[in-house]
Amino acid sequence: MLRSPLLAPLNQPEAWSRLAGAVNPVWSLVESRARVVRVVDEAPGVLSLWLKPNRRFGRFQPGQHALLELDINGARHGRCFSFSSAPRADGLVRITIKRKHNGPVSGAAHALQPGQVVRLGRAQGAFAPRTGHQPLLLLAAGSGMTPMMSLLEAMADAGSTRDVVLLQSSSTAGDLLFAQALDDLAARLPGLRRHAHVSGDSGRLDPEAIEALVPDWSTRETLLCGPDGFMAVVESMHARAGLTGQLTSESFGRRAAPVVPGADFHAVSLSGADFTVASGQSLLEGAEKAGLSPRFGCRRGICRSCQCRKLSGTVLNQLTGQVSGPGEELIQLCISTPQSALELAP
Ligand SMILES: Cc1cc2nc3c(=O)[nH]c(=O)nc-3n(C[C@H](O)[C@H](O)[C@H](O)COP(=O)(O)OP(=O)(O)OC[C@H]3O[C@@H](n4cnc5c(N)ncnc54)[C@H](O)[C@@H]3O)c2cc1C
Ligand code: FES
Repeated sequence: MLRSPLLAPLNQPEAWSRLAGAVNPVWSLVESRARVVRVVDEAPGVLSLWLKPNRRFGRFQPGQHALLELDINGARHGRCFSFSSAPRADGLVRITIKRKHNGPVSGAAHALQPGQVVRLGRAQGAFAPRTGHQPLLLLAAGSGMTPMMSLLEAMADAGSTRDVVLLQSSSTAGDLLFAQALDDLAARLPGLRRHAHVSGDSGRLDPEAIEALVPDWSTRETLLCGPDGFMAVVESMHARAGLTGQLTSESFGRRAAPVVPGADFHAVSLSGADFTVASGQSLLEGAEKAGLSPRFGCRRGICRSCQCRKLSGTVLNQLTGQVSGPGEELIQLCISTPQSALELAP
């Protein structure tokens, strides 16, 4: 009876949520929202937002990320950002955002002021050490330092004595993130050794430089986060040494899946534009390659910003491995790869 349409809107959480939001914008029964509590400049073009999420947000694990959604020119846009703090008793969370050239979300995030309310999705991801004992190597470049900071703070809070080497790279000394906070952490983490690499002075952080700074790198479980080029160098270094199994990577970028030689190309029609996409490549990558700008958020199947209606044709869901039927259904462009010619509506 409680579900009866006669009781609407009294039995609709969305309606109560709208009412609660009118009283206090951070209150919501259906959405995970957060209030900006503090904005801190970290480096040129990089700031941290300290946020107080509502109850819908739940908890997060060090190293995880969440979808930050902002209203920009009347449309909702979301992008993923890692937590740069450890979970805290006061419930505050910190995200640290590098402003991207022509980046709508990072640009709007840099204009946020204390008191404003944003949508902050539930925590996602599993970027964390796999073992609790093996010596660790944390390799971070640029804003790739953010999840490392969360992990290190959590280790310090837990009183860890683990042997950890942090190798942090940035273009200039002024761009090294969290320098002061890391000095403070070092006093609480007896097993931590730090190396800073300034590529503007010493050149790119290549395998030789890593070997020189961390001679025992191959004995360490390694966590890696940074720009795609840097990550590719470290990943091939581990692959050459047969050590891929002890490397965990978090990519912040738009790593397009390489087109496998001999892959089938399929004709795709999206909102009147025609292009081809190789099987193995996501429809989002294919559309962007063709010069289109479909909506996206996480680029990993979480937020559904890229959802569109498939009118005909079959796709493979790259997350679940399931092949769709040939008919009409909703699909996510970022995790769907074509198996036949496709007709898509926006
Ligand atoms: C799991 C995860 C965690 C992350 N954590 C952080 C974090 O802690 N801190 C942080 O600063 N960032 C983080 N990022 C990266 C952040 O989400 C991106 O930088 C985000 O895209 C910025 O959004 P934007 O709207 O400002 O720019 P976007 O619109 O996403 O564009 C980003 C840049 O790409 C360029 N670009 C646009 N279209 C294309 C195209 N087709 N091909 C190539 N380039 C293009 C744009 O010009 C711009 O310079 C994370 C990403 C992921 C996936
Ligand atoms: S961009 Fe988030 S699901 Fe596709």
